[in-house]
Amino acid sequence: MIDSGTLVLFGAKGNLARVKLIPGLFHLDACGKLPPAMKILSVGRQEVSDDAWVAEIKDMLEKKFKGNYDQLVFDRFIKRNIYHCNLPDDPDAFKKFALKLNDDKKFTKNFAFFLSVRPSDFALIVDQLAEQNLLDESQGGYRRVLIEKPFGTDLETAIELQTSIEKHLKESQIYRIDHYLGKTALQNILITRFGNSIFEPLWNNQYIDHIQITNHEQLGAGDRTTFYDATGALRDMIQSHLLQMLALTTMNRPKSFSPDAIREEKIKVLESIKAIPSASFDDFTFRAQYKSGKIDGENVPGYLEELERDGLSPSSVTETYAAIKLFIDNEKWKGVPIYLRTAKRLHEAGTYISIKFKNENSIIKNSNANWLIMSIQPKETTHFEIQTKIPGLNDFDFRTSNLECFNRLDGDESIDAYETLMLDLMSGNQSRFLHINEVKAQWKLIDPIIAHWMKNKTPVVQYPAGSCDPIESKIIFENNEQFWRKSLHE
Ligand SMILES: NC(=O)c1ccc[n+]([C@@H]2O[C@H](COP(=O)([O-])OP(=O)(O)OC[C@H]3O[C@@H](n4cnc5c(N)ncnc54)[C@H](OP(=O)(O)O)[C@@H]3O)[C@@H](O)[C@H]2O)c1
Repeated sequence: MIDSGTLVLFGAKGNLARVKLIPGLFHLDACGKLPPAMKILSVGRQEVSDDAWVAEIKDMLEKKFKGNYDQLVFDRFIKRNIYHCNLPDDPDAFKKFALKLNDDKKFTKNFAFFLSVRPSDFALIVDQLAEQNLLDESQGGYRRVLIEKPFGTDLETAIELQTSIEKHLKESQIYRIDHYLGKTALQNILITRFGNSIFEPLWNNQYIDHIQITNHEQLGAGDRTTFYDATGALRDMIQSHLLQMLALTTMNRPKSFSPDAIREEKIKVLESIKAIPSASFDDFTFRAQYKSGKIDGENVPGYLEELERDGLSPSSVTETYAAIKLFIDNEKWKGVPIYLRTAKRLHEAGTYISIKFKNENSIIKNSNANWLIMSIQPKETTHFEIQTKIPGLNDFDFRTSNLECFNRLDGDESIDAYETLMLDLMSGNQSRFLHINEVKAQWKLIDPIIAHWMKNKTPVVQYPAGSCDPIESKIIFENNEQFWRKSLHE
């Protein structure tokens, strides 16, 4: 249950807070999810008067809801909002901040600090909070710290950050974000697997041929070329979101649906993924970049052209398409390849997990395999392909038919991933946040691929914007029977 604590939002003037977090908190308030006495203390580094902050909130809500909100809810929301300025050049800034927060008349003793600041500021702010004795739970009340993504840029920097913050915080106080975990459709993976007794007996190498985890976007790097070129598709998507989808898809049944039990099984499976053999990188991994092409009929520039436009090196080998093959080293998954792929500027946008079942046991010659597809976005559906008889005299004429569950129906509650995660933070539920061992296991897998790709500076394969997967990406398949699904239905 959420109590009437204080959500302290560091970085309140930043982009994420303005676009997602503050409008998200407003939406939660409008849905009646925030307790009446809960406070939101927004911390920025510029001086803003109370009236100007109200005007800024109004502006954020206008952009998001286009005037479509209730004045009474707005008034209630404004009452729980307070802005605090933490001047960057004031040596006493955190002392003054602590003085404000420790005012028992305004705030209870329960504080959840959401660090929506640049990654280089995470450790520093935790140090400063600790210096003011704001992280010590022995004083009564909880003290939680949410760390935004990314948690390090490789294993070494992740360990460095962890070493720094664990001086002041226990694991139970740290909420490392991967906002995909807040998506209902990801939670649906566990419901599909463990809420239906028909799937779990088939969920192993005896019945599953391979798994594909896909995230495709039509968008390009846009105006984020500096960030993107330093990051790449592998770090941006596969290291975090796709490996988390893999963990939810392949973990063993947890003892219960408690946060600790779920995280325990996710950690186990992530730690069981085999490192890619160093001699096999070129058979297990593939990267490419989009060149100019057409998206929805519109001409769009290539990645290297965008870099050049922004004054960056047009000889970059940073990948905008990444595909890798992984194997899990346990009895259940032995020999089952798991393919992860992510790309910008592909023919369509979609995030989905596709499971191809073996069809060796089918009595029908040349039968198609069964596929189960759990679609995360844009459609939230579960799609199952089965063989059915074509009506008529020919006994064994069959076709593939689709069973489709629409997991979101008109009138269903619509809570954004960040909103879910803020509620979890306030209620102390860590199941949708990353344990440090998950973060470490993820970087351990990804670091060697990045190192291998960094060594090779020859130009990477180019695919036209708006096309399907580059044909060369097939190199990572185990056999000729395996192919990328083009979309949810093909
Ligand atoms: N989960 C995701 O997929 C996802 C998506 C977007 C962003 N993020 C992450 O979210 C974080 C925020 O992103 P953003 O785009 O909002 O960044 P941003 O626009 O740069 O905002 C960061 C804000 O933090 C402020 N700040 C720094 N130190 C502070 C302090 N001690 N007290 C108060 N404010 C402080 C900065 O102020 P100054 O301008 O004065 O420095 C700036 O306003 C980043 O870590 C980013 O990587 C994650």
